[in-house]
Amino acid sequence: MRINENYWKLQDSYLFSTIAKKVKAFLAEHPDQKIIRLGIGDVTLPLPAAVVSAMHEAVDEMGKKESFHGYGPEQGYSFLKTAIQGYYARLPVKLEEEEIFVSDGAKSDLGNILDLFDRHNTVLVPDPVYPVYVDTNVMAGRNIVYMNANELNGFLPMPDGQVQADIIYLCSPNNPTGAVYHKTQLKAWVDYARRQGAVILFDAAYEAFISDESLPRSIFEIDGARECAVEFCSFSKTAGFTGTRCGYTVVPKELTYGGTKLNSMWLRRQTTKFNGVPYIVQKGASAVFSEEGQRQVKANIDYYKENARIIADALKKQGIWYTGGENSPYLWLKCPEGKSSWEYFDYLLTQAGIVGTPGAGFGKNGEGFFRLTAFGDRENTKEAVQRLASLR
Ligand code: MLT
Repeated sequence: MRINENYWKLQDSYLFSTIAKKVKAFLAEHPDQKIIRLGIGDVTLPLPAAVVSAMHEAVDEMGKKESFHGYGPEQGYSFLKTAIQGYYARLPVKLEEEEIFVSDGAKSDLGNILDLFDRHNTVLVPDPVYPVYVDTNVMAGRNIVYMNANELNGFLPMPDGQVQADIIYLCSPNNPTGAVYHKTQLKAWVDYARRQGAVILFDAAYEAFISDESLPRSIFEIDGARECAVEFCSFSKTAGFTGTRCGYTVVPKELTYGGTKLNSMWLRRQTTKFNGVPYIVQKGASAVFSEEGQRQVKANIDYYKENARIIADALKKQGIWYTGGENSPYLWLKCPEGKSSWEYFDYLLTQAGIVGTPGAGFGKNGEGFFRLTAFGDRENTKEAVQRLASLR
């Protein structure tokens, strides 16, 4: 028996586990210190009332013989998929029901989709990047090519015709930098992918944070994307589902590689390895798209965006360079006084009791940068900026 030795090429632990361990060790030594967590992008507002009441009703249904649900369709219930279709229709993007696959979240699907691709494909990822894209491909032993995202290109790398790629990861609004591609930029990516015969894995988990109407929320707003892209979406940041778990992946029927439709392959993969998201959770998720649900979700997003504004104002006042935070819940700042990302992490933790995410954890171009999230609670966010101000 041989193990998968590709795991030896991974860093010791996943970025957010490393951070959690460091914070735990600090708290063990300083039990009285109040820590403010602006690190992992975990929401703090509760589920919207419309979601909670839909889930309560679903629990009651599950408790009665006549309305009980056993195994559901692996790719999701129709009531949720039609609600998702309606949500896309406003862009306007037309999706068929069979193109939508409901899952337990974008992170799982971003890793699982790799089942469909050969191990010898070359993967193109931006640097800095959400570590899941890199780690899942390292686990499979794929060759990874990095594209530089930096201040010069506004952390939005564009295609380089000299680079050959088979699988391309794009995330917009971006985690970790908060940068958002314009339609013309995404069109350049779609054209490049089609020329190369590559597939774009488009992570749209943060689309709900876009307030600038001119920015695309879905790659399917771009002509030609149905021929080259898969889109991943999540209820985590939109509707507070980080602990409830629900997301969806859109695999257009046009996507054909090696004479095979990715849509059929993904259906085959999901029906084999996945038994679907709980009925109760899908009922809650579908309530997100009701009129009331949309109003409540918007109120939560506005709350986080106000947090982002509070952090941004504080950074501006202190003359700290930053980007993001406008159409995104993340602020990406340059560590003051030339500190490295981990030095600044330790400094903020020990001197101000603030936890953020070191940019270096997202790749080499993240060195010297730091990510703060707007998902904190309002009072804590205000306290964090006061603590920041008192450091200087
Ligand atoms: C993050 O902080 O980058 C996200 O919470 C990670 C995730 O969504 O898995």
